[in-house]
Amino acid sequence: MMNNIFDSHAHYDDEQFDSDRSELLASLESKGVSGVVFCGVNIETSKFSVGTAHKYDYIYSAVGFHPLNLSDYKEGDLRVLKELCKDEKVVAVGEIGLDYHYEKESRPQQLELVEKQIILANELSLPIIFHDRESHEDTLNLLKKHRPKGVVHCFSGSVEMAKEIIKLGMYIGLGGAVTFKNAVKPVEVAKYVPDSRLLIETDCPYMTPVPFRGKRNDSSLIPYTAQKLAEVRGVSPQEILDLTAKNAKTLFNIE
Ligand code: NI
Repeated sequence: MMNNIFDSHAHYDDEQFDSDRSELLASLESKGVSGVVFCGVNIETSKFSVGTAHKYDYIYSAVGFHPLNLSDYKEGDLRVLKELCKDEKVVAVGEIGLDYHYEKESRPQQLELVEKQIILANELSLPIIFHDRESHEDTLNLLKKHRPKGVVHCFSGSVEMAKEIIKLGMYIGLGGAVTFKNAVKPVEVAKYVPDSRLLIETDCPYMTPVPFRGKRNDSSLIPYTAQKLAEVRGVSPQEILDLTAKNAKTLFNIE
């Protein structure tokens, strides 16, 4: 069995976990999971993530507004986020970012709120967890402007973009998408990313790796993603897990 699985991006608030959340979270360590960053997407889920991190030693919390949840944003919420960030189990501001695929809120609105959250993270010396969907150019411009620490999660850009992100000192998060049959760009990126900048993630309950694609994802399925990364990088899956766990602890300042 593989161990030292550090899932750098999970959404355990999702209703798909409602029927068995406590049992699942209590079982993950026995399945080799050593760390999870539970990402909020608005105030409610951010608070839930902090509360969950206090119940389980191996769970850490990230707090923020996801670009698809901006309609939940109310005046004063940035102050609430700032207070949450002071909690000892909060290791990042996230999940924040830009989503021009669904574009639920206008681009200017998305840009305004993500920029405020990046400034908050910089002020508190916390890394960010960034979601970039079909918004590569604006993402790069923002990251160049503010130079935050952090990770671009579920990375969907080209190798050229990965190079830019790495030049800025940030990490690349890869998940189940690298195992999909039609994965070309993620596999090229998986080959390219230097050892020191690679993180592994689920984005669960979504992005379930093959052969469970379509079913609910959780952190215990990361070995299937590690297997694929190991194949393209010419190392063992356990080496991928050890490397990405070490990187996650460095980025999120754990231990
Ligand atoms: Ni996510």
